[in-house]
Amino acid sequence: MLGKDLLGIKQLTAEEISGILDLAGEMKKVVLSEDKKLDTLKGLSVVTLFYENSTRTRLSFELASKYMSSSSANITASGSSVQKGESLLDTGHTIDRMGTDVIIMRHQCSGAAAFLAKNVKASVINAGDGMNEHPTQALLDALTIKEHKGGFKGLKAAIIGDVLHSRVARSNLYLLQKMGAEVCLAGPATLMPKDIERFGVKTYNNVDKAVEGADVIINLRIQLERQKSALFPTVREYSSVFGLNERRLALAAPDALVMHPGPVNRGVEMNSAVIDCGQSFIDEQVTNGVSVRMAVLDLLTRGKRNAVN
Ligand code: CP
Repeated sequence: MLGKDLLGIKQLTAEEISGILDLAGEMKKVVLSEDKKLDTLKGLSVVTLFYENSTRTRLSFELASKYMSSSSANITASGSSVQKGESLLDTGHTIDRMGTDVIIMRHQCSGAAAFLAKNVKASVINAGDGMNEHPTQALLDALTIKEHKGGFKGLKAAIIGDVLHSRVARSNLYLLQKMGAEVCLAGPATLMPKDIERFGVKTYNNVDKAVEGADVIINLRIQLERQKSALFPTVREYSSVFGLNERRLALAAPDALVMHPGPVNRGVEMNSAVIDCGQSFIDEQVTNGVSVRMAVLDLLTRGKRNAVN
């Protein structure tokens, strides 16, 4: 059982992460079955509140809650009273007062999910807050790694690209280290947080060195929307110096997993030959997103469901 909210991987123990992954493995059987129906969330309501665009996270939470028989509804900032100037606090109170049990929020500000969680009765799930965390992305990445590598201890994981702006990188870094993997980071110096080495990771500006012998390669999306000024000369140069291609992939372990949270900028972070190769698990990450989100919804609502039953 988890607490009231899921705000980040930073707050979870290795045991809690293992518990979520075990349950997600069970949920995957439901996702891959013909019926896709559980009664787990019957009588509970789940609302997604997205201030930033999303395809994978929002849709997989929506499907997860529907597969579990909740009443679900969705709001985006662009189509809501946020456009009339309503604050996050007032929006949160409004959703809360409709009897909502779980609010799943993506927001452009780091810390927004924690702020909302303090101010509403509903459970809050962080679906990505600014440059801080994206916990369910790291959990679905972890499920993919666990399924293909059997565990995490002793694995070498290379996280490559726009680390500075990436909540996925932070959540994955916390998770992989808690589970016993060795993590290194690579990317342009301008896209590497200044104090990142305090997390006990090696950093490289040379991608070849980072991927050498890696068991897992997680490429990150270049987040041009968060860059206030140009942080690398051209996309073409980025691709040539930092992109994952067949030559670089050949430096990794022969059975290395190639991963990306999506959406991929084809030909920038990775070329199409790598995205579509047999070592690429990007599609499987998407499938695992639904299973992981079902597990999180189940675990976060157990206290409430036990109190009712
Ligand atoms: N990985 C991820 O968060 O993708 P979306 O932005 O499509 O949700």
